[in-house]
Formats: sequence, C-alpha cells, structure tokens
Amino acid sequence: MFPPVNLASIQNSESLVYLVTGATGAIGKVIARQLAANPNAEVVLVCRNSAKAEQTATDIVAATGNPKVRFELADLSRLKEIQNLAERWTGPLHALINNAACAPLARQETPEGIEMQFATNVLSYFWLIEAFSDILKASAPARIVNVASYWAGGLNLNDLEFSRRRYDNDSAYRQSKQANRMLTAAFSEKLQPFGISVNACHPGDVNSKLSNDLGFGGHETPDQGAETPVWLATHPIGMETTGRYYERKHEVDCGYIRDRQAADTLYRTCLDYNGR
Ligand SMILES: NC(=O)c1ccc[n+]([C@@H]2O[C@H](COP(=O)([O-])OP(=O)(O)OC[C@H]3O[C@@H](n4cnc5c(N)ncnc54)[C@H](OP(=O)(O)O)[C@@H]3O)[C@@H](O)[C@H]2O)c1
Repeated sequence: MFPPVNLASIQNSESLVYLVTGATGAIGKVIARQLAANPNAEVVLVCRNSAKAEQTATDIVAATGNPKVRFELADLSRLKEIQNLAERWTGPLHALINNAACAPLARQETPEGIEMQFATNVLSYFWLIEAFSDILKASAPARIVNVASYWAGGLNLNDLEFSRRRYDNDSAYRQSKQANRMLTAAFSEKLQPFGISVNACHPGDVNSKLSNDLGFGGHETPDQGAETPVWLATHPIGMETTGRYYERKHEVDCGYIRDRQAADTLYRTCLDYNGR
C-alpha cells in the first residue's frame, strides 16, 4: 500500500532532520522556527500552498540564519499526496511533527468523499506515520510528535465522519483531537521495538485561523504554543518516553491513551481507509 523506500540513501546523517506539517499556520511556523534555531537541524515544512510555503521558509531562514529549511507541497487530506511525498523523500527523518489541522464551519468532504476534519486532523497523522515508518525506522532513534489538544472528546467509532450525527465543527474537532491521542497509544506500541517514540501534546491556546473558526481567540503566544511540541521533538525525555500525553511539558494522565482496545479499533478503522 505504501511506497518502497530507498533505505540505502539513509546513512549517518550529520543533521537532525525534522518534518513539520501545518508549517504555514500560527503554531506550526514557530515549531519550525524553533527547531531551525539549532544549526544542526534540517527542517522540512510540509504545506499545501506554495506561495505561503515559500514565504514561511524565507522568514525562518532569515530569523534563524539556518539555510537548511525547505518545503514540500502536499494536501494532507489526501492519501495519494502523502504517499507521493514519502516516495520522493530522500535521506533520513528523525522527527515527524504532525500538526496540521482544520475546523471548517460546514461539513466538507475531500475529493475521495471523506469528511474533511477526519481526513486532515486524523487520517493525515495516521497516513504520514504509516508512509514514513520505514524511513523513521532506518533513521532511529526517531520520534513522532502528534499535536493534539486538551479540547478532546465525544469520539464515536461508529460515526467518525458525522454521517449519522449532525455536523458541527466543534464536535468534529474535539473528536479528532481525541483520535490524535488514541493513535498515539496505538502507534507507540507498534513502533517502540524499532526505536521510535510517539507522544502527543496540547500546544497552547494561540490565536489562529483554526482557533477563530472554533470561536475563540487564544491567550498564549505562538512561541508558547510551540514550546511543548518542540520540547518533545528535541529533549531526551521525548525519546525516553512513548505513548504519553503532555501539557506544558508535563505528562497528564489520559484515559484515551489508557484505553488500548478503543485505540486499536480506531487504528484498524483508519487502516480501512487506505484503499480510498
Ligand atoms: N490554536 C490553538 O489554540 C490550539 C489549541 C490546541 C491545539 N491546537 C492544535 O495545534 C495545531 C496547529 O493549530 P494552529 O492553531 O496553528 O492552526 P492554524 O494556524 O489554522 O494552522 C493550521 C495549519 O494546517 C494546515 N492545513 C490545514 N489543512 C491542510 C491540508 N489539507 N493539507 C495541508 N495542510 C493543511 C494549514 O495550511 P494553510 O495555511 O494552507 O491553511 C496551516 O498551516 C493543530 O493540530 C491544532 O489542533 C491549537
């Protein structure tokens, strides 16, 4: 299902290579900038809009002096685009930061007929981990950071796409952020034997298109919002622990992570979307 990887190209890289999704957004841009502040970092921004991507990369290079910042284009709501991204990737990947998300006010579907929040906020995390897992394994030790939210709940395994329930963007969003934590649990068990950690976090309440679409502003700065995801991507603790959920750099007990049976059911349900 996922493309073969040229493992021969992954050899003793001197750089730490990071992939950040949603890097044109409020929090993602600062995650990328904070990572790029390390001169040994190579940061790949995965974006869907080339003009925004170019401007973001230019801004980060100017702010950090690190020339190793580039972008790749992909609409993350679409499996094929993620598969193509993994297929054209060369070299290692040491940390995948799943951060892109949306919260459209009215129910929308992708061209493949998948509800947009489920596709972007949940399946893109799942598809990226699957598509890059061989590359991450060959680059290990490696990490996955799933940017989730404290605002999570209401997931219905029998109606993940709001086909039977009335759609409202807040309910679909809360469900998707619960799913981020559940998939963190499912993937942490599968990837731990390969030296890959998988953790989830709440970033911070930051003013953004997403938060505005959900009806709030956000009282934290983008730098504060980026702090915990970047810490998980760079601090030893993000490698020493796996399958955990963090807020403000502290682990928070999470029932969605503890419920491995539901997590596994969601994982298998996501697998069923690979044919779409
Ligand atoms: N803001 C908060 O207060 C808050 C609180 C808790 C959790 N979070 C989480 O933090 C993360 C970042 O949120 P944010 O507030 O920074 O949101 P944002 O500013 O609205 O940014 C969202 C990013 O996702 C990208 N994106 C959306 N759909 C995409 C698609 N189909 N393909 C590729 N990229 C796509 C957007 O690209 P475009 O620029 O092209 O639209 C943008 O770069 C999300 O996971 C969110 O759930 C945020």
